[in-house]
Amino acid sequence: MITVIGSINMDLVVQTENFPRQGETTLGESFTTVPGGKGANQAVAAARLGGHVQMIANVGNDGFGEELIENLKANTVNVEGIRTISGTASGIANILLSEGDNRIIVVSGANFEMSPAHVNDMKEKIAKSRLVVLQLEIPIPTIEYILQLCAEMDIPVLLNPAPAGGFREQFMRNVAYLTPNETECEQIFGTDMETALEKYPNRLIVTLGDAGARFFDGKQHVIVKGFKTDAIDTTGAGDTFNGALAYAIVEGYDLQKAVRFANAAGSLSVEKFGAQGGMPPLAEVQKRLQNNVTD
Ligand code: RIB
Repeated sequence: MITVIGSINMDLVVQTENFPRQGETTLGESFTTVPGGKGANQAVAAARLGGHVQMIANVGNDGFGEELIENLKANTVNVEGIRTISGTASGIANILLSEGDNRIIVVSGANFEMSPAHVNDMKEKIAKSRLVVLQLEIPIPTIEYILQLCAEMDIPVLLNPAPAGGFREQFMRNVAYLTPNETECEQIFGTDMETALEKYPNRLIVTLGDAGARFFDGKQHVIVKGFKTDAIDTTGAGDTFNGALAYAIVEGYDLQKAVRFANAAGSLSVEKFGAQGGMPPLAEVQKRLQNNVTD
């Protein structure tokens, strides 16, 4: 069982030709609401591949909350650990898509009501995990509590440090795999990437966008190339990478093979609209791995 403890958002997506400048009003092309949130995205990515996934999270008691839970159920994610918090809105993400890129503002809502007490109530569910997956869209004291609890229960944790602001290097004591992108890696460790990678062999995996991902295996730097792709919407590509990496680790892949698998899943995810729209089933990832057209 993979347990994802993290955020669920409704993504409010506006597509527009150009990002507006400060003080400018422009006319956009479309507006869509789609399920998102780094936690939910990673849970769905792992479940679509066939992983047994449960999610521990909060939504608000609004229409979005119900819709978001239904979406997880439809993707075979176990939602028994999700609470509906009264008097609080569900998390949302305001996403601007333009110029082949995105700009995102998250309003956390119920996600920031995730307390150590909630996690503690879910102890029996967490105990069933082969891997716990975390991001940083819930309060940092709750993250610290989960890391401690998982260490006591001897359950490995994959932490995707996004957004990176709340990360502290002491978390590495209880993190089995950390998956920042290049910017987050620099922000977190305050050194160049090579130095950080060498400090955490086989545990720090830095994602490089369409160029793939890299880690240090204790002897040498391993660069695992990304796959050629026709990107439509890159929102959720990192989440797909993390969900797929979690799936592959639990399946027992060695790290290099797991990262290649996650690269393939991530490359497929950007070919459709929405954070979860392009998350692939296992057969599609296997096909991309066989075709082996790297970037
Ligand atoms: O990583 C993409 C996600 O970040 C979006 O789905 C949005 O909800 C934000 O959490």
